[in-house]
Amino acid sequence: MNTRQFDYLVLGSGIAGLFLALKVAPRGRVAIITKKNRAESNTNYAQGGVAAVTSKEDSVEMHVRDTIEAGAGLCREGVVRTIVEEGPDCIHELIELGMRFSERELPNSGGARELDLGREGGHSKRRILHAKDVTGREIEKALLNAVASQPNIAVFENHIAIDLITTQKLGYLGDHRCLGVYVLNKETGEVETFSAPATVLATGGCGKVYLYTTNPDIATGDGVAMAYRAGAPVANMEFIQFHPTCLFHPKAKSFLISEAVRGEGGILKTPDGREFMDEYHPLRSLAPRDVVARAIDHEMKKSGAPFMHLDITHKPAPFIIKRFPNIYETCLGYGIDITKEPIPVVPAAHYQCGGVVTNVDGETEIAGLYAIGEVACTGLHGANRLASNSLLEALVCAHRAANKLATRNTKPEIIPLPAWQSGNAHDTDELVVVTHNWDEIRRTMWDYVSIVRTNKRLQRALKRITNLQEEIQEFYWDFKVTGDLLELRNIATVAEVIVRSALERRESRGLNYNLDYPKADPALAQHDTVLRRKA
Ligand code: FAD
Ligand code: SIN
Repeated sequence: MNTRQFDYLVLGSGIAGLFLALKVAPRGRVAIITKKNRAESNTNYAQGGVAAVTSKEDSVEMHVRDTIEAGAGLCREGVVRTIVEEGPDCIHELIELGMRFSERELPNSGGARELDLGREGGHSKRRILHAKDVTGREIEKALLNAVASQPNIAVFENHIAIDLITTQKLGYLGDHRCLGVYVLNKETGEVETFSAPATVLATGGCGKVYLYTTNPDIATGDGVAMAYRAGAPVANMEFIQFHPTCLFHPKAKSFLISEAVRGEGGILKTPDGREFMDEYHPLRSLAPRDVVARAIDHEMKKSGAPFMHLDITHKPAPFIIKRFPNIYETCLGYGIDITKEPIPVVPAAHYQCGGVVTNVDGETEIAGLYAIGEVACTGLHGANRLASNSLLEALVCAHRAANKLATRNTKPEIIPLPAWQSGNAHDTDELVVVTHNWDEIRRTMWDYVSIVRTNKRLQRALKRITNLQEEIQEFYWDFKVTGDLLELRNIATVAEVIVRSALERRESRGLNYNLDYPKADPALAQHDTVLRRKA
């Protein structure tokens, strides 16, 4: 098949990819390449909302301070300030594109309305714009509607990006530039070549590297793995955020109980009804996420209980049902009436604070390659992301990357791209090996590289993952590629990067808690863990 040529390749159809695609479409032809249906993304499941300064009682200074405080000494203040300052304008654009955030009636105003602002852990003010508890779904809907009316945007669903094509990979000397990407069309089984002067990674995070996660199946760290294989630096991958409150139920797969439930008064308790968060942090159930997740983990280990409780039954039932309709209905479906009984919860892998190293305009070290949204490490989140700052970062960085792209020469010399080589590949009948390795990596990461770490556990994990990688590599070269095999290779790569990063950081800071170094080392404040694949 011939190379498909575009002006912009956007890998991913979550908030970051869609917002950027809409902004660059007036200037050229855009391909959005997305590995499932177009709405399937972490974005689609976001509940709490978008943090942004929109109230007179709030200020940029306060939002900056809260972000830096949560980030435990690793945020880049300039980046934090830019994103917080530019957030409200991006929110405004999102509203103009059709997004409807929840509003409330102003008291004694004769029916005047204002945005209903929610609160979450680590925020000193109410500043979370939300659409009840289905904010992400509404954002996806608004952005996809806007994309549908853009003739310059072509969406390739069920197309999974395999690897970036770069000058270095093709053996050219001179600057390292991204020329395009190989993509598996999951419907035909063929590998297609896409080329463009600009490729944007908007592939989201890597929750599926862990056995228990709030993330949907798409979150296999493909962007980080592809960029790492291409030689781009990847930073701070040890900082995986565990959300404290994922629903504990044998039939529930990855269902989040939003932090906004605690923001509206929900209280964490042991199964026998003891409130425990005052032993861990003055903000109790609304402490930053790393603290709450560790506290829950500690209480579960101490008592042997398989879950803790989140109790909001003291709030009026009509309020709970109106504010959290999706959580209420979903829990009810599992036989839990949250207006009458506490919700069993456990921590689960949720967000990747590190990623492909970029500046605040999404530029990576490889010319022509950009990364925005969860896949990128801009310096906003530091060692622990402040709740609801990721949708904000995705919007602002997509906006800035689009502006940056407008200033770039989009007509580089044409380098012919070779077709994908599959060698002697033939169809695999050994899918069981893929499933087995997949389970083993995710369990190893959960058992040895999760909320509480030790050097011994990290070393053990590294050994297992490196062994598995050898097996996967053999598979990769022997068999025809499939979506499952590609994702397996990517979770193995990302698992290795997470473990190596955690081994490099010899301190406990934010989300990286290591019993062998239980304290933060002041000398490591502002120090990023940067890994780069050896050539
Ligand atoms: P995503 O929305 O994850 O989109 C990634 C896209 O890339 C998908 O379309 C995927 O299919 C595609 N893709 C991936 N790999 C490939 C490949 N190899 N080839 C082609 N396509 C690929 N953050 C907040 O700020 N507020 C919240 O309230 C909030 N709630 C959350 C609730 C849940 C349950 C979860 C899981 C996350 C939540 N987050 C929240 C985090 C936030 O949703 C994500 O960080 C954010 O949506 C990421 O957006 P993105 O565009 O970078 O990636
Ligand atoms: C939530 O609703 O608790 C998720 C918010 C976030 O991850 O930012």
